[in-house]
Parts: sequence; structure tokens; C-alpha cells
Amino acid sequence: MFLIIIHEHTPLNPTPAVKFVTSDTQPRLDEISRFFDGQEIYRKVVLGNHMFHREIYAALSVFFKERRSTGRNSFLDAGCGDARFIPALLEAGGFRHYTGLDLSAVSLELAAQNLTALEARGLSIRLLQMDMLSGLEAITETFDTVFSSFALHHLTHEDKQEFFKRCFSVLNPGGLLVVVDTLRTETESREQYMDAIRIYAQNNWHCLEDAETEAALEHITTQDFPESFAALQVMADSAGFPELRQLICRDVWFQCVYTCKPPLKVDAVTA
Ligand SMILES: C[S@@+](CC[C@H](N)C(=O)[O-])C[C@H]1O[C@@H](n2cnc3c(N)ncnc32)[C@H](O)[C@@H]1O
Repeated sequence: MFLIIIHEHTPLNPTPAVKFVTSDTQPRLDEISRFFDGQEIYRKVVLGNHMFHREIYAALSVFFKERRSTGRNSFLDAGCGDARFIPALLEAGGFRHYTGLDLSAVSLELAAQNLTALEARGLSIRLLQMDMLSGLEAITETFDTVFSSFALHHLTHEDKQEFFKRCFSVLNPGGLLVVVDTLRTETESREQYMDAIRIYAQNNWHCLEDAETEAALEHITTQDFPESFAALQVMADSAGFPELRQLICRDVWFQCVYTCKPPLKVDAVTA
């Protein structure tokens, strides 16, 4: 297993022009990794299926199985966390090469454990402790799928735009960009979303103690910047992607959307 702990976002290999994130500051990234290094609250939310991982990843397994192709086997996961649900996806899609990027060292150690069985079956697994934008710029190879699950909302609006652009650059022609995330409705401001999520979490996240719900909400209200589908569509569009499609949506906010980098045009051969 290739688990690299890269501190202070040191670029991978010498690459020209590795830019640090465009607008996020180091303290904010540190705060995000501190929360996810803590693990326990997010792990409880996921195990309680409060963000619909089960339904979303079941739909994704079918999605990747339908698109399985021997020539398309590299998968980049931006904000991979503990990669708990990734083995089933990689198997469904027949992927052979997995790269996970995350800020949280603790999450990456857990990801290494969750992916060990796949590595034993011959998949190449690489885990990198890096900010996803820096990683997308530093990595020199290209991928057949770029995936990000419940991580994009941590980026600022400008950095999400940059994320789409960098995804377009690292995807092979015909490659898929798949994003799972919490999205605001088209009419919801960030403040309205936060108010609604507070009530939703207090009423539904029964697996958490009250103090844990408050800690989760503190993280959400200070570190989450969800966009609407329409805003993501604009970002995808200006990065060069065609239409963004919705694969699945649960309880209004929890969604999986995807798009595909256009394949190379093959000129018609005339006899
Ligand atoms: C809500 S968790 C999602 C984990 C997993 N992908 C899932 O679906 O359960 C968000 C993850 O994104 C990571 N993350 C947040 N901002 C990041 C950034 N700028 N670069 C890399 N990872 C980031 C966090 O450390 C955390 O592990």
C-alpha cells in the first residue's frame, strides 16, 4: 500500500506550478482535518445512515457496473475519508488503480485498513494526505473517474469552481466526474439551509448524543458551504463539462450528480 503522509501540502514529485488552494486559508484546512481526525461523530452519522450513504452508494454501484469497461480503470477520490464504501464501488466498476486524497491523517489510516483486501487482490492503492486542489494539480497522471463524496461542500465557492476545472484537466476523454454532496435547494440561502439542517439534525440524528449533535452542527455551520445544483451546473459548464445529471437525491439535500468529459472526436475515415 502506498500511504504517503505529506505534511504542509508538499507537492508530489517535482511538478511545475503547484499552486496552493486559491482562497482557503491554512487554519480553515487545519480545522477541517482536526474535526475529521476526531472521527467519532462523523462515523456515527455515517453508521446511522443519516446522510444516506447506503442508498447513494447502492445506486453508485449499479451506475459503475453499467459503465464497467476494461480500458477504464483508474479512480481518483477527492476527500476520501476512511473510504469505507469504496471497495464495493471499485469492484462494481472493475477499477484497478485507486488514489485517495484527504487532509485527515486519521481518516487515511482507516482508509488504508478498509482497502487492504483490495490491494491483496492486486489493485494498486495510493493514499495521499493533501488538500484536494493541490493534489489535483500536483498529480501528473490522468484518470478515468474522479469522484468526491461529501467533501466538495468544504471548499469555498471559488475553490469549487477551480475543482471542476482541475477535474476536467485530470480526466481522460470520456472520463466521469461523480460528486456526492449535500446541496442547497435552488431557493435556499446558506443561512436558510443552516437553519433547516439544524432542525433536521436535531429531529433525525438519533444516533448522536445532544452534545454530539451540537458539535456536528458547529462544524456544519462554520465549515460547510453547500451549493445548489444550478450553481454546480454553472461551474461544470464553465470548466468544459456538458450537462450535469442527478443520479439520486434523498431528503432534498443529499445528492449524487455526475457528468462526463467529452470523448475525443474521431474524424470519419473516408475510403
Ligand atoms: C464528510 S467527510 C466525507 C468522507 C467520505 N468521502 C464519505 O463520503 O463519507 C469529508 C472528508 O473530506 C476531507 N476534506 C475536506 N476538505 C478537504 C480538502 N480541501 N482536501 C482534501 N480533503 C478534504 C475531510 O478531511 C474528510 O475526510
